[in-house]
Amino acid sequence: MELVFVTNNPGKLREINNILGDNFRLLSLADIGFEGEIPEIHPTLEENASAKAFYIYDRFLKDCFADDTGLEVEALNNRPGVYSARFAGKDETGGITSLEEQTAANIDKLLGMLEGKKSRKARFRTVISLIMRGKELRFEGIVNGAIITKRRGSGGFGYDPVFIPEGSELTFAEMDLAEKNRISHRARAFRKLVDYLSGIPDLM
Ligand code: IMP
Repeated sequence: MELVFVTNNPGKLREINNILGDNFRLLSLADIGFEGEIPEIHPTLEENASAKAFYIYDRFLKDCFADDTGLEVEALNNRPGVYSARFAGKDETGGITSLEEQTAANIDKLLGMLEGKKSRKARFRTVISLIMRGKELRFEGIVNGAIITKRRGSGGFGYDPVFIPEGSELTFAEMDLAEKNRISHRARAFRKLVDYLSGIPDLM
């Protein structure tokens, strides 16, 4: 059975391919000949994930899924949330030029906004929208934790150096990848997706 993963990120594709095994032929956007950018303009993770999946479904009529992730910080009313990737703003006039700069600016802004706040509770949340034969199902994965005051660790990406998951002493950036993948929001959401897909009889 063929399923399109609506992503341009080869790392994500490899990760999920690994979990899915041989029952599925996972196709990338490149595999189906799609090269454009899909707009991510909605105010919630749910709407963004759905919109990305339906964008491809409507054009290719192929079963597919898309994911969207955000960091939700309690003291900031769940911001940056859906705006996590560009929290510090992308300056069209050339202020921020690379992903590294964007990430550094995002973390600086987050730490600045949390100065003096009582709660440093935060969570990562991933939402997956699966469209099969035109019908949508959603899966959610959450990891609760806290934002520390200074960066620690060099692994991972994004907000990993300042996020400590509940029950751990290490930040995501101090963990090895296998450990992060055991507990992460994304892994939890994808495991739910895989459990669902594995239970559909005529796919096996
Ligand atoms: P995406 O929806 O997976 O592209 O994630 C959106 C943004 O959330 C990323 O650009 C990162 O800033 C942040 N993010 C998502 N997942 C993680 C993670 O596992 N660690 C740290 N930051 C993450």
